[in-house]
Amino acid sequence: MAPSVAEIKATSDAVDLNQKKENGPSYPFYYPHFDVNEKFPPMEIFQFTDAGLRADPAKPHLLNANATVVNISPYLGTEITGLQISQLSSEGLDELALYAAERKVLIFRDQDFKDLGPQRQIEIAKHFGPLHLQPTAANIKGYPEFTVVYKDPSLDRLREHLGDESITRTSWHSDVSYEKQTPGTTFFWILDQPRPGEGGDTLFLSQVEAYKRLSPEFQKRLEGLWAVHSGVQHAEFSRKRGGPVRREPIEPVHPLVRVHPVTGEKALYVNPIFTRHIVGFKKEESEYLLKFLYDHMAKGADFQIRATYQPGTVVVWDNRITAHSGTADMDFSVRRHAVRLTPQAEVPIAA
Ligand SMILES: [Fe+2]
Repeated sequence: MAPSVAEIKATSDAVDLNQKKENGPSYPFYYPHFDVNEKFPPMEIFQFTDAGLRADPAKPHLLNANATVVNISPYLGTEITGLQISQLSSEGLDELALYAAERKVLIFRDQDFKDLGPQRQIEIAKHFGPLHLQPTAANIKGYPEFTVVYKDPSLDRLREHLGDESITRTSWHSDVSYEKQTPGTTFFWILDQPRPGEGGDTLFLSQVEAYKRLSPEFQKRLEGLWAVHSGVQHAEFSRKRGGPVRREPIEPVHPLVRVHPVTGEKALYVNPIFTRHIVGFKKEESEYLLKFLYDHMAKGADFQIRATYQPGTVVVWDNRITAHSGTADMDFSVRRHAVRLTPQAEVPIAA
């Protein structure tokens, strides 16, 4: 049976946060932490200017002479070696925002990012927007900006959350689309990764290409529609198992088609995890259209990629114009430990 949150907290407290134990996580400081008494106030609307708007399109501060870039597919995903995110200037970070918007997903290899410590990691991520504080998922003691994704033989929240009822645990979503100002340039880095062939990749799809594949007539029908996104189900799940609900969930409406503030590209903005229904449609109409869109996204293997992890990998994606899914294909004995910092961006711009 899956451990309760109280049991997880007891395990967390038992982990020495500064010392690696034999067979323990490599970075015990980032072990998942749940405090059911932690509370955040409701979020306030803030002014947002995308760092990518300040960027030099030639990206001379990011793609220096030592950098090598290899595109993974025509529509999204670029693997980058030969540079350190930690060494980028403010101009270089602006260019990173633009590059992430253009390529949707950037996979940086051999980074020292995981060893920078929480304050420097936060400082870099904050360049892209105020950091989202996760209302229900694991964070780090004293650092609620971090979201922790962790599994080992004794703890597998993803599997527990997604259950055994479905034929697959593939669950396409964009992170916390239930917030009014949804995340933009998102940082995710690996601390303990499965060995090659042991699974644990992340699937990504381009919501820009998903939109482009639709006929002009169908695109026109989607533009102007709005859908309700909801954090209620996640909050209820957490509450039911004695976990935290650090901020009361809300149910904002977002456009079905949003426009990226830097590139001007249009992207589908629905996902089966957080989108609930289309405003103004009857129940069956909404279910019918959303099911079509979810099937379209899931079937689009020609606008999807897999991000793989090696020691030192940092994946940066633009959460406004992509959807992603974990792959719950790892053996129970495998440890996978990753951390996310999630800068929030603008209130979605309707097409
Ligand atoms: Fe996610």
